[in-house]
Amino acid sequence: MLKIYFDGANTEKIKEAYSWGVIDGVTTNPTLISKENRPFRELVEEICSIVDGPVSVEAVSLDAEGMIKEARELSKIHKNIVVKIPIIKEGLKAVKVLSEEGIKTNVTLVFSAGQAILAAKAGASYVSPFIWRLERVGQVGFKLAEEIARILRNYNDCKTEMIVASVLDPRYIAEAALVGADIITLPFEILEEVVKHPMTDIGIKQFLADWKKVLRG
Ligand code: E4P
Repeated sequence: MLKIYFDGANTEKIKEAYSWGVIDGVTTNPTLISKENRPFRELVEEICSIVDGPVSVEAVSLDAEGMIKEARELSKIHKNIVVKIPIIKEGLKAVKVLSEEGIKTNVTLVFSAGQAILAAKAGASYVSPFIWRLERVGQVGFKLAEEIARILRNYNDCKTEMIVASVLDPRYIAEAALVGADIITLPFEILEEVVKHPMTDIGIKQFLADWKKVLRG
């Protein structure tokens, strides 16, 4: 089945979503972390203590050496840490070294199938195409997700999984499952929207009203 990650760093919302029994992991980025106004390491430790699954945390160096150093430090925080690395030349070098060391990587800011192929070749554990950000510049985000999903499936030796990222529409979860994505990462607000449907609410209200008319005895 499609795996669902929580896209964000708010621990109360993570706890709430995790209690629904549908969350398999967490993705963060510097923007999401900055919104929490909390010491970075303490925050990441708490997220890892809530969710039993991969937790992506981004390296912010732009040179391979710096990324590798950061990744080694980040991976010491918890066994479930996955290090996010941007898809740039230095990033590829870092991913190669880290994959040989057994440190998991999530290659981020992917906007083309070619970038995804290079990331997979370098040994990325995950590639994250940013769907909504592509839509914002007039492209069809799910065309990219579909291409990457097909490419990754075409090669039996490929262990890289695709995370559909940058999600601002509740319909994306079905689209992701239809193209055969491994994972989708959803902000809390979108996750809530996925659960809800006005017809479900109307149905519940009607059933409860009718239940009051049922003869008991
Ligand atoms: C997750 O890995 C990404 O960092 C996140 O989905 C980006 O989302 P945004 O485009 O809404 O910032």
